[in-house]
Amino acid sequence: MHHSRRFGTHAAGVATKFGLKKLAMLVQVLTLFPRLINDFVALGLPRIAIEKGALSVQSVDLRGFTHDVHRTVDDRPFGGGAGMVLMCAPIVDAVEALEQDPQTLLQHGVAHRVLLTPRGRRLDQRKLRELAKVERLLLLCGHYEGIDERVRLAMPWDEISIGDFVLSGGEPAALALLDGVARLLPGVTGDPESTVHESFEDDLLEAPHFTRPREFRGMAVPEVLLSGDHAAIGRWRHEQSWLITEERRADLLQARAARHAATEGKPWIE
Ligand SMILES: C[S@@+](CC[C@H](N)C(=O)[O-])C[C@H]1O[C@@H](n2cnc3c(N)ncnc32)[C@H](O)[C@@H]1O
Repeated sequence: MHHSRRFGTHAAGVATKFGLKKLAMLVQVLTLFPRLINDFVALGLPRIAIEKGALSVQSVDLRGFTHDVHRTVDDRPFGGGAGMVLMCAPIVDAVEALEQDPQTLLQHGVAHRVLLTPRGRRLDQRKLRELAKVERLLLLCGHYEGIDERVRLAMPWDEISIGDFVLSGGEPAALALLDGVARLLPGVTGDPESTVHESFEDDLLEAPHFTRPREFRGMAVPEVLLSGDHAAIGRWRHEQSWLITEERRADLLQARAARHAATEGKPWIE
């Protein structure tokens, strides 16, 4: 089967004001459920990123890389136990086919491989920022009891978990990562400020937001936000961030303190 029929592609180029084409970040998702990926990127912010030419997403069906009539991707675990295990061959064949495609290699370079697994390093905003700089990502979604260990051993993977809980498949994890990266790509959110002053960007949780009306069921909007005094508003928001972080995520403040202490003894409270 030719690759183009195995891949669902959502892509767009971007014409800059100089008439040049800037290449989108390419995310290829290896999955048993390509529709989950395609439906997700057809809506919301990922769709905007694709339309603006910052992102291109390909869902790749693992079953397209099987060699039997039943398109088998899994088998029983050696040693016994519950559940099925995803076999090496379809995954490794798929990765190699994608990575050796000369056109993609030329346009997007070598893929940064990500394996979504509860055994991986926990995803955070810092990691998303790092991934948003990569030109090409290959995301592998596991299923059933997991993936034959030799897929890990055959080639290096950046193993990422989205939290200390177990999903039935890697797709929601891949989509969380994809969504988080898409909104950080240049030119995607209209206002670059919107990704700077939000939760986790400075190891702090975000201050609360309010919009109209000024009063709702007896609850008034904090006076300072109506004052027009931007310095005072900035101070209030910063203070609120500290308070809410102290209350809910003291661990973030500890990590922040440790990091600042390590950087030439610079003060960590500003
Ligand atoms: C049911 S899980 C397998 C869990 C495995 N038996 C274990 O205990 O680690 C099936 C697949 O879902 C994905 N998955 C589950 N939880 C995840 C998480 N917290 N982060 C990232 N991927 C996850 C992985 O791709 C995994 O291969």
